[in-house]
Amino acid sequence: MSPLLTVVLEDYMTKKTNNSKRDFLYLTAAATGAVGAASMGWSIIDSMNPAADTLALSSTEVNISQIESGQAITVMWRGKPVFIRRRTKQEIKDAEDIDVSTLRDPQTDNARIVDGKKEWLVVVGICTHLGCVPLGQKQAEVKGEFGGWFCPCHGSHYDSSGRIRKGPAPKNLAVPEYKFINDTTIKIG
Ligand code: FES
Repeated sequence: MSPLLTVVLEDYMTKKTNNSKRDFLYLTAAATGAVGAASMGWSIIDSMNPAADTLALSSTEVNISQIESGQAITVMWRGKPVFIRRRTKQEIKDAEDIDVSTLRDPQTDNARIVDGKKEWLVVVGICTHLGCVPLGQKQAEVKGEFGGWFCPCHGSHYDSSGRIRKGPAPKNLAVPEYKFINDTTIKIG
């Protein structure tokens, strides 16, 4: 039986009727380890702290069926926070409407998604400057000037494709190896 990993889904999308309310949903992700070792419960997800109690799991399966457009979750994978965002049409448009040649780390949005699934962006949530965890996952957090993430450590702004747009970070947020197992499950690693 696969070890189960509990992760917390945090709804950062602004509620039209109640902006102050934050929903916490819970997802169950099956985690498969290279050695098939013992299971360990994880309660994660305040994105600020890649906790010390992480395991170096080789891959993690995440059920994304409950993530609505505009929401994001963070899961831990190999000791790193991974941001999974279901992007809105506007976020996708913003990510595509950019002259890639003007970017510090030129990459099309299309090169940063898999299987043509534009709604889904999966990136390692570690700033490429000095390794802080950027803000932007939580509903109340700032997302920077380009609608993605903002690293307050030294002021790096990432866009809705996780590309560096302003500030000292040299590279885009990394896209981990992942794939869709089916429409509602991704496997990271
Ligand atoms: S660590 Fe993110 S801007 Fe310096």
